[in-house]
Amino acid sequence: MDIHLGIIGYGGMGKWHAKNAARAAGVKVAAVCDIDEEKIKEGTKDGFVTYSSAEELLADSNVNTVVLTVPNHLHKEMCLKAAVAKKNVITEKPAALSVAELDEMESICKKEGVFLTVHQNRRWDKDMLIIKKIYEEGILGKIFSIESKLHSANGYMHEWHLYKKYGGGMLYDWGPHLIDQILFMMPNAKIKSLYADIKNVLHEEVDDYFKILMKMDNGITVHIELSTYMLKYAPRWVVGGDKGTAVINSFACDGTIYRTGKLLEKLPPQITETIAGPTRQFAPVPPGGIIEEPLPQVESDWVDFYKNVRDVLNGKAESLIKISEVRRVLAVMEAVRRSAESGEAIAFE
Ligand SMILES: NC(=O)c1ccc[n+]([C@@H]2O[C@H](COP(=O)([O-])OP(=O)(O)OC[C@H]3O[C@@H](n4cnc5c(N)ncnc54)[C@H](O)[C@@H]3O)[C@@H](O)[C@H]2O)c1
Repeated sequence: MDIHLGIIGYGGMGKWHAKNAARAAGVKVAAVCDIDEEKIKEGTKDGFVTYSSAEELLADSNVNTVVLTVPNHLHKEMCLKAAVAKKNVITEKPAALSVAELDEMESICKKEGVFLTVHQNRRWDKDMLIIKKIYEEGILGKIFSIESKLHSANGYMHEWHLYKKYGGGMLYDWGPHLIDQILFMMPNAKIKSLYADIKNVLHEEVDDYFKILMKMDNGITVHIELSTYMLKYAPRWVVGGDKGTAVINSFACDGTIYRTGKLLEKLPPQITETIAGPTRQFAPVPPGGIIEEPLPQVESDWVDFYKNVRDVLNGKAESLIKISEVRRVLAVMEAVRRSAESGEAIAFE
């Protein structure tokens, strides 16, 4: 069976799916819909069958699978309608606004016998996959700290992202990616506890900054930070292990592994006078003390997402993005909000 995709919401992400999904053999875009006339015109111009409502698209018997690229608050409602219309459902992230909503979506899809998955496309990001490889292959020895930071200088958010009622704010926007990447990287590690803070730096109604600290039962402390207004960006990833440190600066995967030979053997016996006073431990590293190595290479192609959906629908594969994993991410996001509100760490899992 080929995927005949119906795209519900022909905005930024809808157009992206329209352009890229058919890169997977056996996937073609059958129709798109939007409630905005301009978007419908664009869909027609782009050569697609267009509809002005989800209901009309769902009535099209040529569509067997839909992707929900509408604002976040509509994912549950659209999923329920699509399932009743016997369409398989791919929803954009966040899959839902809460664990309870996701459970409802899963249960109706099961009842109607249709497949449900979530477009967690950032599982194919090479920067994250390099860190995953470093973790899995012990390239840094025993890892004690992983920092995943995403900083932007662009400040303001746009359109529906600015309002709570549409599921706006950065935790709903990027939380599902940044948390999912960590849990995907180390699926067998449990989160022992979690502490989080959420801020409104430039936006009154919705959050535009969050920090999450997760103490994992494998000895790693994970630090996730997102800011829309950090004018000098921190590296995208900093990972500390007992055999080295890895830094990846950006999505472009520019970065380095740092190791030391002699520094670990013994600190210099004398105190070093720095501009900020005397120190042994935190003095500058003597020349040659740090060795630099290239990062390991990884290959990935996001189109594997649609190939996998096609194979699942043909009974040839298991879903790469499992609803149980998506539920775990949403549960972490709920704990993040609880911790941020109470100022307390939350015992988890
Ligand atoms: N996976 C990713 O990398 C990624 C990136 C960006 C956005 N997203 C997700 O994609 C979804 C859409 O985001 P976007 O940036 O494309 O937003 P957008 O505002 O660009 O597009 C949303 C579209 O939905 C349309 N729409 C609204 N209500 C509708 C309805 N009832 N029926 C049909 N169409 C309707 C709007 O007119 C608009 O064209 C969000 O859930 C967002 O979180 C995912």
